[in-house]
Amino acid sequence: MLSTLSSRSRETGRSFEKLPMTARSFFQSLSLVLFFLLSSAAHAETRVRLEDDKPGPTIDKNIYGQFAEHLGRGIYGGIWVGEGSSIPNTRGLRNDVLQALKDLRVPVVRWPGGCYADQYHWRDGIGPKNQRKKTVNASWGGVVEENAFGTHEFFELVERLGADAYVSVNVGTGSPQEMAEWVEYMTSDSKGALANLRRANGREKPWRVHFLGIGNEAWGCGGSMTPEYYTNLYKHFATFIKTPKDNQPIVIASGGQNRETTWTQHLLEHVKESWTLRLDGISHHYYTLPTGEWSRKGSAIGFPEQEWFSTLSRTLEIRGILASNVRVLNQLDTAKKVGFFLDEWGTWYDSAEGASQSDLYQQNSLRDAVLAALNFHVFHEFAERLRMTNIAQMVNVLQSMILTDGERMLLTPTYHAFHLYRPFQGARRVPAVVRGGPDYRQGAQGIPKISATAGLGSDGKLYLGLINTHPRDAEQIRIDRSSPIAKASGRMLTGASLDAHNTFAEPNRVRPTTVELTGSKGSLEVALPPRSILVLALE
Ligand code: AHR
Repeated sequence: MLSTLSSRSRETGRSFEKLPMTARSFFQSLSLVLFFLLSSAAHAETRVRLEDDKPGPTIDKNIYGQFAEHLGRGIYGGIWVGEGSSIPNTRGLRNDVLQALKDLRVPVVRWPGGCYADQYHWRDGIGPKNQRKKTVNASWGGVVEENAFGTHEFFELVERLGADAYVSVNVGTGSPQEMAEWVEYMTSDSKGALANLRRANGREKPWRVHFLGIGNEAWGCGGSMTPEYYTNLYKHFATFIKTPKDNQPIVIASGGQNRETTWTQHLLEHVKESWTLRLDGISHHYYTLPTGEWSRKGSAIGFPEQEWFSTLSRTLEIRGILASNVRVLNQLDTAKKVGFFLDEWGTWYDSAEGASQSDLYQQNSLRDAVLAALNFHVFHEFAERLRMTNIAQMVNVLQSMILTDGERMLLTPTYHAFHLYRPFQGARRVPAVVRGGPDYRQGAQGIPKISATAGLGSDGKLYLGLINTHPRDAEQIRIDRSSPIAKASGRMLTGASLDAHNTFAEPNRVRPTTVELTGSKGSLEVALPPRSILVLALE
């Protein structure tokens, strides 16, 4: 019954696309209701036990963090259009994008890079806009950087979002002095020259700098350094972070990438904290490429099933990456003081034909949403040490939440995945034990077909996230918790094809639908459609 329903919807896909939007939404909702009703009688193959009597660590809200770099149209056109733009804006920040990001409850934004951070000189981005220096963005295409978006504009963005600020300082082409002066400009409430300059530029009170990153990818674009060389530089820079006591940022060292643990180990072994030196976190980067090869990464859409599988399978390598680095942290920092910060992650595809290679603009499909949700589930497993992650990047770059085209804007499937998982920000992790679930197999390889995560939300409700990674087969799941489940409600995301995506002409092809379920004999039976994500609040 389940597979009949899903294959029929594939066959009728073409004529369905021709229906007007309202009729399509109606049929989509109807088919989902039918799907859940008809399938609730089927036999449960997978069982999920929620151990809500054993809540674990808090899932830091910043695990759902964002990253915005001066790259392509990530800032200019995506977030910032300028006061004089015909695109509706408030003091230069686009209203539509801001509203969508507010709805997402973005907890933290990392800025200004990325590779760009190590060539960014903060003084270029302050003062009257018509007097700001035009520079060249040598990291990303050599385009002219107007510096219209600088320190004041960034803080206006995070303050309007209600998000924490994560500022990455320039180590590669900067100096401890330049960093120290920027920190003073941002945080000092004194009558010193830098605080007065900030006031003269329109900001009376200091800003709250929650996180300070010391350089970026020191092993590569940040200066091609060895861990030994960078660790010494880290100590040098971090010693000169002087802020008022009530505005002390969490200080994060630039770490390794992929499976490496050497950077984590070296930093922990050689940075000894003192009254002048702190190490609060180590950053790490991991990007998912469908093929695993930088020379031919794979397409964002129109990919074969084999690449659906390889992309999801490669993204799950994050579990091993986090486990091995956390092992090193647990050995060398038994007080569990130093956090792990995965401050760049996400998919990276080949740029579409004809598109600028340096803009890193890519489409975003249902595959990205499923991949994001799989990452969230793994992140929750490491809640004790993982203090932040930042998907790359927020708007128009790599795996973004939002795409813009002039005045048009669309929300990507990844946006919807982040939106579905909002209740997990600050929730206490609850073990979700999956039993009996089959694998989704491709040849000799397999990944779990069903992934589950659970959390006790700050509203007191028990939330469950479920993913079906299989491209064609639904799964019947029985859910139990420590007390009977009377009902559940939430939202589900799926799409008509593996690469279902939104376009400017059809921005709502992929969007969540609501789901209401009733418990039976204390348990909950869910028929999870293929290639779907479901987040439920259980009562
Ligand atoms: O996110 C794009 C780039 O990827 C960042 O600038 C860099 O840190 C990483 O290599």
